[in-house]
Amino acid sequence: MKIAVIGTGYVGLVTAAGLAEFGHQVIGTDKIVDKIEKISEGIAPIYEPGLDKLLKKNLGKGNLRFTPALDTTIQSCDVIFVCVGTPQDEEGRADMSQIEEVSRRIAENLDSYKVVVEKSTVPVQTSMWIKRIISRYKKSEASFDMASNPEFLREGSAVADFLSPDRIIIGVETERARELLVKIYEKFRDRLIITNIDTAELIKHASNSFLAMKISYVNLIANICEKTDADVDQVSAGMGLDPRIGSQFLRAGLGYGGSCFPKDIKALAKIGEDLGVDMSLLKEADRINVGRMRVFIDKIKRALWILKDKKIALLGLAFKPETDDIREAASIRIIRELLREGSTLRLYDPQAMNNMKEIFGPDPDRLEYCASAYEAVRGVNALLLITEWEEFRTLDLKKVKGLMANPIIVDGRNIFKPEEVRGLGFEYYSVGRK
Ligand code: UDX
Repeated sequence: MKIAVIGTGYVGLVTAAGLAEFGHQVIGTDKIVDKIEKISEGIAPIYEPGLDKLLKKNLGKGNLRFTPALDTTIQSCDVIFVCVGTPQDEEGRADMSQIEEVSRRIAENLDSYKVVVEKSTVPVQTSMWIKRIISRYKKSEASFDMASNPEFLREGSAVADFLSPDRIIIGVETERARELLVKIYEKFRDRLIITNIDTAELIKHASNSFLAMKISYVNLIANICEKTDADVDQVSAGMGLDPRIGSQFLRAGLGYGGSCFPKDIKALAKIGEDLGVDMSLLKEADRINVGRMRVFIDKIKRALWILKDKKIALLGLAFKPETDDIREAASIRIIRELLREGSTLRLYDPQAMNNMKEIFGPDPDRLEYCASAYEAVRGVNALLLITEWEEFRTLDLKKVKGLMANPIIVDGRNIFKPEEVRGLGFEYYSVGRK
């Protein structure tokens, strides 16, 4: 069986390398030629632990290759995974133009039976549209089937998530498509959930929105903790022991960012509204998330009073640790606000600096990119902990204190122990606890 993977973003690249690792013949394709050249040498354009190694291994074995030639790739494969982007449009809906474009190209090149699998996160009923488009533009008598196989991988552990998934959702409408998909995921037979296509599409959006809602919920509880003597970390731990709730995604902090949650919760709210369903629950969760920046800035103001002309270090720029991705990262909104207030910023992140430079170029008077966390805290009036990278947990805090002008920490992710940092002489602010 030959498999095509269209789109080499996070999902496409990991899917292509992962399916090759399962022993399939895979061709990955993307319209950005430079990207294809790099990937063909085994260099992923994104920082994702284990991905370069997996690419190199399977490129070397000869069962994985990449090409910008979309038409011939479609013609030569039996199964086509669609992994192109579905960014957000101005109204919060998923922009489906790339999916439409790919559907037309599949139609033009449909020369034999194929299964078209949507793997990008798409609104429920997208497959119906892809099917219509392919049927409308196809030139041959060849038939095809649609399938949905949503991807649940998390950035930072995407390779591990793909290679040992907790569930694989397969949405199909024919027996022939079902057999092909089951064959692709043969080694995970015990974890296959087979549904119709609308259900599979909705499982993805519903899962992401639920997790985002869980985070907003705990952040709301954190706000109550800050006004009382309660400690949000202990509240989360206590709640999490109830198996009906579960302990994951109950970490209070700066809210969720990244390429999925903010987009998916808005998209599902829009889909629901378009279908006449009251979606205020999700809209409120999103509003709480956006409000995290204001709560954090108020905390910095409580520590520094006036932000104008204050020198401030930001540790962590990525939307979460173990990635260089800054899409919808809390850091962006915080930087923007602090610059607006007139602060001078010193930034450091182990992986995301280059991406951030594309948004905020270096500005010697206002914003400096530093080579290390220690460099970043030199002479600052406060340290803001934005992303919980492991290397920040193990900082030599005595050294940090010696380098800072004022020993003030505002910890947006609760990585430090209050009694420990206060014992060292820091003034310390964190989330949902004293
Ligand atoms: C998410 C889903 O987990 C994944 O299944 C889906 O396929 C894509 O979207 P990802 O965006 O990589 O993955 O990150 P994730 O680890 O889920 O974290 C999302 C955001 O929530 C991050 O900004 C993180 O900092 C935040 N978060 C997570 C919290 O604030 N608290 C938590 O308890 C957990």
